[in-house]
Order: sequence, then C-alpha cells, then structure tokens
Amino acid sequence: MLDRGRYLVGGIAACGNCHTPKGPDGKPIADRELSGGAPMDSPVFHAIPANITPDPETGVGKWTDAEIVDAIRNGRRPDGTLIGPPMAIAFYRDMSDEDVKAIVTYLRQVRPVVNKTDASTYKIPLPPSYGPPVTHAPDVVRDDPVAYGRYLATGLGHCMDCHTPRVKGRADMARIGAGGNDYSAPGGGTVTSPNLTPANPDGIAQWSDAQLKTAIREGLRPDGSRLVRLMAFDWYENVDDADMNALVAFLRSLKPAK
Ligand code: HEC
Ligand code: HEC
Repeated sequence: MLDRGRYLVGGIAACGNCHTPKGPDGKPIADRELSGGAPMDSPVFHAIPANITPDPETGVGKWTDAEIVDAIRNGRRPDGTLIGPPMAIAFYRDMSDEDVKAIVTYLRQVRPVVNKTDASTYKIPLPPSYGPPVTHAPDVVRDDPVAYGRYLATGLGHCMDCHTPRVKGRADMARIGAGGNDYSAPGGGTVTSPNLTPANPDGIAQWSDAQLKTAIREGLRPDGSRLVRLMAFDWYENVDDADMNALVAFLRSLKPAK
C-alpha cells in the first residue's frame, strides 16, 4: 500500500504540485513536502492548498483514515465544510478504494511539518456537495489501456480537469480534452490549456507517442519550447511506461475537437 501510495502521489496524482511549497527554481521543496502550497488565484477564488502532512495541529494528523478518504473523494472535511476548487473533487470521486487508501497510507508517513495555512476565499458559493457521497469505487482493470488511461487522466491525475472546457464551472465532458482554459502562469502572465484530442492541426494528431511522452514527463514540446510548471512534469517524470502507454492510448481515443 505504501509503495503504491508513494508511486501515485509522487507521480500521476501530483498532489504536491499544489500542496508542496516551491523554491525559486519552481521545483518542489522536498523536506516541506505537502506542508501547504502557494496561493492560487482566479477571478473567483483565492485558494490556499492546505498543509496535509501528519502534523496534528496544522496538518491532518488528527483526522482518521476514513475522514481523509472522505475529504479526497467527497470534498468534505471532518467539520462538515466543503473543500473548494481548484482541488478536482469532481474527478477524485472516481478514485478506487484501493488507490485512495494507498494515498492515505503515504500521507500518514510524510514528515510532519508545522505550518498553519490560511483559509481560502471564494467569490462564488460552493455547491452544497459534489454529489451523492461516494463510499465505494471499484478498481479499474489494466487489460484495457484506453479504460485504464481514462482513469489515470481523470480519477487519479485530473489531467482532464484542466484540459476540458468548462460550462458553468463544470468540465464539459462532451468536449473532453479540447482545452482552452486560462490559468495564471507561475512567474506571471496567463497560460491556456492546450487541446489534447487527436485533431489536426488544433490537437496532438501530428505528435508521435514519444513526443507526447516527452511533453508530459519533461515539459518539452516537439518544437523545443518548454511548458510552464503549472504542468506537473516534476511528478509525471515518475509515471512508469505501462501507465504512460495507457495515457497516450486514452488521448488518442478522444473525439477530435476544434
Ligand atoms: C489543483 C491543486 C490541487 C491538487 C492537485 C490537490 N489539491 Fe488538495 N487542496 C487544494 C486546495 C486549494 C485546497 C483548499 C481548498 C479550500 O480551502 O477549500 C485543498 C484541500 C485539501 C484537503 C483538505 C485539507 C484541510 O485541512 O482542509 C485535503 C485532505 C487535500 N486537499 C488532499 C489532497 C490530495 C491527497 C491530493 C492528491 C490526490 C490533492 N489534495 C491534490 C488544491 C489541490
Ligand atoms: C493544473 C492544470 C493541468 C493539469 C492537471 C494537467 N495539465 Fe497539461 N497542460 C496545462 C497547461 C496550462 C498547459 C500549457 C502549458 C504551457 O503552454 O506552457 C499544458 C500542456 C500540456 C501538454 C502540451 C500540449 C501542447 O500542445 O503544447 C500536454 C501533452 C499535456 N499538458 C498533457 C497533460 C496530461 C497527460 C496531464 C495529466 C497527467 C496533464 N496535462 C495535466 C495544464 C494542466
């Protein structure tokens, strides 16, 4: 369980891309892993990724395993309040029982760091819930790379949260992967999530599998330009070959979108 949790949090799930503070080079500070990340701003929120280390006072040390699972999959804290965006609860709802338990097992043993994070502020009302409470989600079998790749890109890695256009604040799954969302780029300016569907020329139809993998793992495009560190390639570099093949198979299966 611990190995699986380490693999997921250190790779596809990339919780630390939001929850770990970063140094001046934009890379995560290892000995402050998951102790609370930089504030994230959008026109509707000033969100502060919480300290999720096992520190009992400023982290989640006093929460039970079930409470942490509930926070990740249902967005509900032990005190009943809801976790707001940009944490991708709508996607994490599909995280399997085994995988969410593995992630909690990993969280339990990271170094406890004392760091009191401020509350986030939202200019939009949060929904009363993210849907009927999830109490069970089955494992996704790996024999079908497209299905497993979908799970990696949604329930585990929330790629499709950023890369799917939004309607009324929700990902428009009819146009899954079509991109077009604006984000504040680390270091300033705005960056738009690209179209990852197999469309030509708007999407990634012209990219080879190897080029796609290099972009995801190293943040390097075929033309030699670099992706900003909003993309969690400091984590995705740890995604293994089988999972990377599944991710690519899934992207190639999407409906081409303009
Ligand atoms: C895109 C950024 C982002 C990612 C990725 C992310 N989170 Fe969060 N998370 C947040 C933000 C922001 C908050 C605080 C939201 C609020 O204040 O309502 C939060 C809150 C939480 C909380 C509630 C903590 C508390 O004390 O209130 C937990 C637990 C949590 N995240 C766990 C995780 C885990 C585990 C992962 C990886 C599977 C993860 N998060 C991935 C942004 C993120
Ligand atoms: C936090 C939002 C976010 C998440 C999560 C995310 N991406 Fe991205 N991605 C972006 C943005 C924004 C860019 C553009 C970066 C730039 O222009 O420098 C990008 C760029 C890319 C590119 C380069 C495409 C191009 O045409 O340049 C690929 C490929 C990609 N992402 C795949 C993925 C995959 C696969 C995942 C999940 C494992 C993922 N992304 C998760 C926001 C995200």
